[in-house]
This record gives sequence, structure tokens and C-alpha cells, in this order.
Amino acid sequence: MIIVTGGAGFIGSNFIHRWLESQGESVLNIDCLTYAGNLENLTGIRTSVPGGPTYYFSRTDICDQAALDVLFAKYQPRAVVHFAAESHVDRSIIGPAEFIRTNVNGTFALLEAAKKYLRALASPEASKFRFLHVSTDEVFGSLGENDPAFSETSSYAPNSPYSASKAASDHLVRAYFHTYGLPTLTTNCSNNYGPYQFPEKLIPLVVSRALEGQSLPIYGDGRNIRDWLYVGDHCDAIIEVLEKGRVGETYNIGGLNERTNLEVVHQLCATLDELRPKQSGKYSDQIAFVKDRPGHDRRYAIDARKISEELGWKPVESFESGLRKTVGWYLENQGWVDHVRDGSYRDWINRNYSGDAA
Ligand code: NAD
Ligand code: TYD
Repeated sequence: MIIVTGGAGFIGSNFIHRWLESQGESVLNIDCLTYAGNLENLTGIRTSVPGGPTYYFSRTDICDQAALDVLFAKYQPRAVVHFAAESHVDRSIIGPAEFIRTNVNGTFALLEAAKKYLRALASPEASKFRFLHVSTDEVFGSLGENDPAFSETSSYAPNSPYSASKAASDHLVRAYFHTYGLPTLTTNCSNNYGPYQFPEKLIPLVVSRALEGQSLPIYGDGRNIRDWLYVGDHCDAIIEVLEKGRVGETYNIGGLNERTNLEVVHQLCATLDELRPKQSGKYSDQIAFVKDRPGHDRRYAIDARKISEELGWKPVESFESGLRKTVGWYLENQGWVDHVRDGSYRDWINRNYSGDAA
């Protein structure tokens, strides 16, 4: 069986669904359920299939190393896939402490627990063990319009408390491979989108606000560029790296879809105009430019040649097909959106967009 951390979040829950469907191997999900963790993302998973994989859940904070030690000893995983993190840049600007705690100290505790567990394992199991750390392209900083895309050898230059905390965790993972021989793999991916993404991130935020007739906030001039990766493609890439990646290596994962934020929002509006037309006017009428994010990185882009050439992975979804699936999912699952948007979500929206033309 494998351990997945952060499996109640956006990418982790998509990963668990895919893993159980495609790999048929049991999973222990370790998640402390922050505002971003939602067990509703995992409904529909059958906890035990006769003769098939079993899904287990432990509500545990990854900073609690003693609790992690107990879970490793009890479940005897052959691998760890580490998603748990504080993940939203804007929250890291307003409150960086939690990012250092979970992303740095939590990753450190998890590495220590894995190291201790590995040392007690017999040799055939020990040689097959893997620790896969999920990271971000944001650790590489910001690109100019004509710069080449980030590769695995790009230097680290994080600009936000979020990306700095992820960079620190990447360095710890690297050190545990070189110093202790922990069989690590690190992936650095671009912006994910798809089902179950918390509506504080650009795409689900725009969809839900558009449907409610609210303004669609674009930071600055809207010309910042991100590469968009459909979450299902990302999960497939992680499985490839886990099964075939070379230990100690890092792999960049991208969607081959560079878009300005304005292009993304216009395309979302056009998709909504088609799938859920307004009684009058167009969704793009709701676009509003608001004050920029401090230290807002201008452009991210991924050179994904290494994973494609070594492991044969490339994304299946185009931005158009992925966006259509995503908008369709949010339209069909508005109950899910209502449930995750509790009081703490409303407080966040009021805080982040106060004083804007929202
Ligand atoms: P998310 O915020 O949706 O989910 C994070 C999950 O981790 C939640 O379920 C939360 O409850 C859990 N968690 C947080 N702190 C914890 C702690 N101390 N102990 C246990 N569980 C804890 O995040 P996501 O978007 O699914 O991102 C998953 C990973 O992928 C993160 O490591 C993130 O840095 C990385 N990543 C995300 C993106 C993206 O576009 N979403 C892009 C690149 C990299
Ligand atoms: P986001 O989804 O927060 O991801 P990240 O900051 O990790 O790239 O933001 C994606 C882009 O969209 C980023 O350039 C910031 C911008 N953005 C807006 O213009 N308005 C918003 O309300 C949000 C949340 C993001």
C-alpha cells in the first residue's frame, strides 16, 4: 500500500480516485483537514472492495512526527506521495507562518518518519521504497516574456512566502537523498485546474463568481502568464514518476498551455456563455481589474522534455478540452461549492478583496 498526504485537498483527492481506479493498490490518506481539506472530495470511494484495494483515512497533522511513526509502522507503505501543504500564494502573503509550519516543518517531520521507517525495513522492501514529493514551478521564480521555460536545472529564485516554503521543502528532500540515501523523487508542476479545486484559486473562483453575478477580479493588467495543467494529466505524470522515475531526480510537469490571466478568464466566460447563458449580456461584462498581488510573478513556463523523453509522459488534455470538462464539473456540482464555502471562506474573500472594485 501507499501513503498519500493531503489526500483531502484538490490534487490529492483527484490522485486517490485515479490511483484506486487504475492501480488497484490500497491507500492511507493522511490529512489534518484544514480549510482546504474536504472529505466530500472522496465520496464515492468504496472503502473496501472484496479482493481489491482498501482506502484508509487518518486525520493527522504531518508536523506530528510521533503520530507519523505510528502510522508508518502500522501500515508498512511501499511509497509516500506527499501533497500536504498550504498552497495559496495570496494566503501566504497575509499569513506566512502556517506555510513555514506545514510546508517546511511538516515535510521535515515526514522525511524523518520515512527515514526511520526505511532503516527498520528488510532489504528487498527497502530497495523498492519511494518518497515522492510534489512541488511547484513557482520555486524557480519569474520569467521574462522571451526567457526559455523552466527546466530541472533552472536555479531556484522563489518570490512569495509560499514558493519560498516549497523551495525549502525541495531542498530538504534533496538533502535526505544525498545524506541519508532516502529514495526520493521530486516533481515540479505548473498551475493545475480541474474538479475539486477550492474556489479561492483563479479558475474555480471565476466560475463561481460569474454564476453569482459578481465581479471577476483580475490582478494588475491581467497579462501575467501561467502554464495550465489539467489535474488528471498531472496525476498520471505522478504515477509514471513513482513507478519509473530515477531516484534522487526531479521532473518538471507542464500542460503546454501558456495563457495570460485575461485569456483564461475570457475563455472561461465564453465557455459559460455557451453552457449556461445569462438572461442578458455576457459573463465577460463582469470582469474588473483590481490591485495587483504584491511580488506577483510575471510568467511561469515549463520545459517538460525530461519526463516526456525519459518516461514517455505527455499531457492528454488541451486547455480547451480541460476547461470545458472543468466548467461542466462545477456546473454539475454546485452543492459541493456551497459546502466548501463556509464562514471561513467568506471571511477570506472579504479580507483579500477588501477595498477593490469587487
Ligand atoms: P490544497 O490546498 O487543495 O490541499 C492541501 C491539502 O493538504 C488539504 O487537504 C489540507 O487539509 C492538507 N494539509 C494542509 N496542511 C496539513 C498538515 N499540516 N497536515 C496534514 N494535512 C495538511 O492543495 P493542492 O492544490 O491540492 O496542492 C497539492 C500539492 O501540490 C501542494 O504541495 C502544492 O504545493 C502542490 N502544487 C499545487 C499546484 C496547484 O496548482 N494547485 C501547482 C503546483 C504544485
Ligand atoms: P492562482 O490560481 O492563485 O495560482 P498561482 O498564484 O499559484 O499562480 O492565480 C493564478 C493567476 O491568476 C495568478 O497570476 C494570479 C491571478 N489571479 C487573479 O488575477 N485574480 C484572482 O482573484 C486570483 C485568485 C488570481
